[in-house]
Amino acid sequence: MSATLIRDIKLLVNTPETDTCLRGKELAVLPVIENAYLIMEDEFITGLGRMEELIYPEKHFKSVINATGQIVLPAWCDSHTHIVFAATREEEFIDKLKGMSYADIAAKGGGILNSARKLGEASESMLFNDAWKRLEEVSKMGTGSIEIKSGYGLTVESELKMLRVIKKLKEKSPLTIKATFLGAHTYPPAFKEDHEGYIRQIIDEMLPVIAKEKLADYIDVFCETGFFSREETIRIGKAGMAIGLKPKIHANQLNLSGGTEAGVELGALSVDHLETMEESTIRLLAGSSTIGTLLPTAAFFLRMPFQPARQLIDAGCALALASDYNPGSSPSGNMNLVTSMSCIQMKMLPEEVINAATINGAFAMEVQDKTGSIRPGKKANLIFTQPVPNLATLFYSFGTNHIEKVILNGKIV
Ligand code: NIG
Ligand code: FE
Repeated sequence: MSATLIRDIKLLVNTPETDTCLRGKELAVLPVIENAYLIMEDEFITGLGRMEELIYPEKHFKSVINATGQIVLPAWCDSHTHIVFAATREEEFIDKLKGMSYADIAAKGGGILNSARKLGEASESMLFNDAWKRLEEVSKMGTGSIEIKSGYGLTVESELKMLRVIKKLKEKSPLTIKATFLGAHTYPPAFKEDHEGYIRQIIDEMLPVIAKEKLADYIDVFCETGFFSREETIRIGKAGMAIGLKPKIHANQLNLSGGTEAGVELGALSVDHLETMEESTIRLLAGSSTIGTLLPTAAFFLRMPFQPARQLIDAGCALALASDYNPGSSPSGNMNLVTSMSCIQMKMLPEEVINAATINGAFAMEVQDKTGSIRPGKKANLIFTQPVPNLATLFYSFGTNHIEKVILNGKIV
């Protein structure tokens, strides 16, 4: 009697019997139920099926939602973001419009270092409140689970400050949140000529506190020319693994940086970005259990070639899609734009982008038991679309808000 019935759903999307991390051709297989019902009780999905199979009368339910003409999907699982930051970076945006590159800006002390200077001065409560607003913003756009990285601290004190903010967001937010330690985002100015010194600080001073206070689930390294080398990535990744943090690596964004190789060698949960890939790197990833997480809005914002999604899928890789929401390379956390752009620019099919941004995103955060598909026992984390002609409309009509409402943990947000 305490349950809610959602009836006459035009299309209930991503309703597998069991959950697996999908790779290659499997990504195009999207289980759906036409003319469906769904039952939720408290924060969980408790039943689903075709309308004609519904055995209970409406009066059996505490409330009834009519979804005539609407598509219902699992809430997006955004497995790569940097939403704790102190300030946006519009001045660099203008510099880039005038011809500077991301690497030029970083080299002159902008970019990540600019964000780190501002974050050093920001209070924990200000960072929390701003990140909270961003979580509210993305949840209204359908995001139900999200990974958040540190990496704008770059000192012991500020990295821990960021991770404590993320911990508090985890405790208070209706979103499902995972925390990633990205102390190795860039070398801070004080250690510009002393890489060993900063790596020692990460390993000897940051990681022990992170372990003690349980401040992170994962460890990340920005493996890139001018940032952290493949060898440094492996060393830092292993130190994280020694305290139970699985690696998720920033790899192959600007250059063939060896990030994918490092990630695969570490047995990373994911390697993320992958704008710059070659045949052999793609094959290496396809032969591993590491998920490739594509961040097309970062490629778009930096005017870089999009990730080679079709080659990655043809090679048999497991792919996730994420927003990379951050002030430097993707000042948007809109997963509707991410998925639409993935269809338009990377030629991914609607079925593939949905799988990559739901169940595979859940696997890339190890929350696949709780969310990422529509199955009894999982959280009622649901996107209701406006009435639309078909599934492809969601990605074809880019830039239109197709969402009518979002339910997280059984409650409308
Ligand atoms: O994922 N590539 C490294 N880190 C971020 C950007 C960080 C920044 O510019 O603030 C990214 O794109
Ligand atoms: Fe990133």
